[in-house]
Amino acid sequence: MRRCGTGRVAVSRKLTSRHRTRSDWQMLYRFLSIIAGCCLLAIAASNAALGAARGTSRNLVYRQVSILAELGRMLFFDPGLSASGQLSCASCHDPARAYGPPNARAVQAGGKDMRQMGFRAVPSLRYAQVTPHFTEHFFDDDDEPNAGVDNGPTGGLTWDGRADRARDQARLPLLSTLEMANESPSVVANHVKQSSYAGLLRKAFGATIFDNKEKAFAGILEALEAFEQRPTEFYPYSSRYDAYLAGKAALTDQEVRGLAAFNNPKKGNCAHCHLSALGVDGTLPQFTDYGFAALGVPRNMNIPANADPAFYDLGLCGPLRTDLQEHPEYCGMFKTPTLRNVTLRQSFFHNGVFHTLKEVLSFYAERDTNPQRWYRSNTGAAGRKFDDLPSRYHANVNIEPPFDRHIGDKPVLSEQEIDDIIAFLHTLDDGYMANKQQAQIPISRR
Ligand code: HEC
Ligand code: HEC
Repeated sequence: MRRCGTGRVAVSRKLTSRHRTRSDWQMLYRFLSIIAGCCLLAIAASNAALGAARGTSRNLVYRQVSILAELGRMLFFDPGLSASGQLSCASCHDPARAYGPPNARAVQAGGKDMRQMGFRAVPSLRYAQVTPHFTEHFFDDDDEPNAGVDNGPTGGLTWDGRADRARDQARLPLLSTLEMANESPSVVANHVKQSSYAGLLRKAFGATIFDNKEKAFAGILEALEAFEQRPTEFYPYSSRYDAYLAGKAALTDQEVRGLAAFNNPKKGNCAHCHLSALGVDGTLPQFTDYGFAALGVPRNMNIPANADPAFYDLGLCGPLRTDLQEHPEYCGMFKTPTLRNVTLRQSFFHNGVFHTLKEVLSFYAERDTNPQRWYRSNTGAAGRKFDDLPSRYHANVNIEPPFDRHIGDKPVLSEQEIDDIIAFLHTLDDGYMANKQQAQIPISRR
């Protein structure tokens, strides 16, 4: 239950009411897109560079958004946007892997000399567009059974939800000394001014945009966001599972068994957090409820920062996120990632500690029945359980199914069930349906 007797919000997860999809967010997102479109229209209407006719014109908005997205694409793939000259957004967010990490490394190299290592795995940028803004207290709608119950922290971009919009997020890697390492926004603006696509920024924001470096930088961030909102690239909903939900494809017997184990509250209970069902209004599931949980993932000693025994990545309560540091009840919590296209990844969890889905699923099944397999000291001997979390925060770790077992119990999933769930996860890869076919999914189901 989410509330404990003291009245403090119990942040252990989760009520079944969270099973609904965030369809309302999608609606809100669409609504906001329209508003954004209108704002753009206002800019465009006063924008001599576009030579635009005044008044409301759909074509004009469309053209403005297309220019922005095109500019965003040039920016996204431009290594010149980093101090090293070697790192573009796409170096870490590989389009061939659903904009997730290009390789099996847990964390990627960056910085001025390309030798700085971050301490988090690269998330996929697919389906991030419908992420709701971060809120510390998420309540379900009034018409739901658990209305009025606080579901705890929800939403936001990055593993700790510290950026709400893609434009705020894009600022982070551009200026982080561990990533693209630009010294200031004006360095970025100057690079774009000298680039072959400088004309696109002028086209979008006016001929004098480069005169004000802060404004030019803001335009650059906005363009990156516009690119990350391109539906065909970033939220195609073209997986076999989407086709299955639309009645246009079948699942194999094994995949059906995997889906059942994924959904079953007494088996994987995965859908509790990684939502798998159509929304009440027919919207497609995102395979996350955007909630936060501490799973007690093992420490990854291959991350350089972890060589310091005093260093811990505690997610919501820091160190990268700074506004919730006084909330010990959030320490160790990370945002539930989508599982769409998860099979294209070669490292899993916020610290990339596992490299196969088999390991991930075995960890879910055996974390509590066979902890000595998962937590090891440097010498390989059995280590401390939840070794990536100081013991004062161990009470935050999730103990709901599938994590409700004890040492010596039978693991909740058999080898066969693990293989079945993995087979099912493969149906979540985009690219099964061509866009043309996908467009035929009844609108009520999208
Ligand atoms: C050196 C590798 C690297 C580069 C370069 C990089 N990113 Fe990221 N990106 C990451 C990592 C790691 C995270 C997770 C960060 C965290 O949780 O604190 C992330 C997170 C994100 C997210 C949040 C996704 C979500 O669902 O939470 C977005 C959006 C994003 N990056 C966009 C960009 C853009 C745009 C650029 C280029 C301006 C870029 N990234 C460059 C590694 C990188
Ligand atoms: C209590 C909510 C919850 C439940 C139940 C749950 N997950 Fe997760 N899942 C998470 C969170 C939170 C993370 C990220 C944790 C971290 O990195 O520290 C995650 C991460 C993952 C990842 C890694 C994805 C990536 O991009 O690195 C996979 C795969 C996954 N879960 C699959 C499953 C499966 C399969 C089940 C059922 C056996 C399941 N999860 C049950 C919350 C949950």
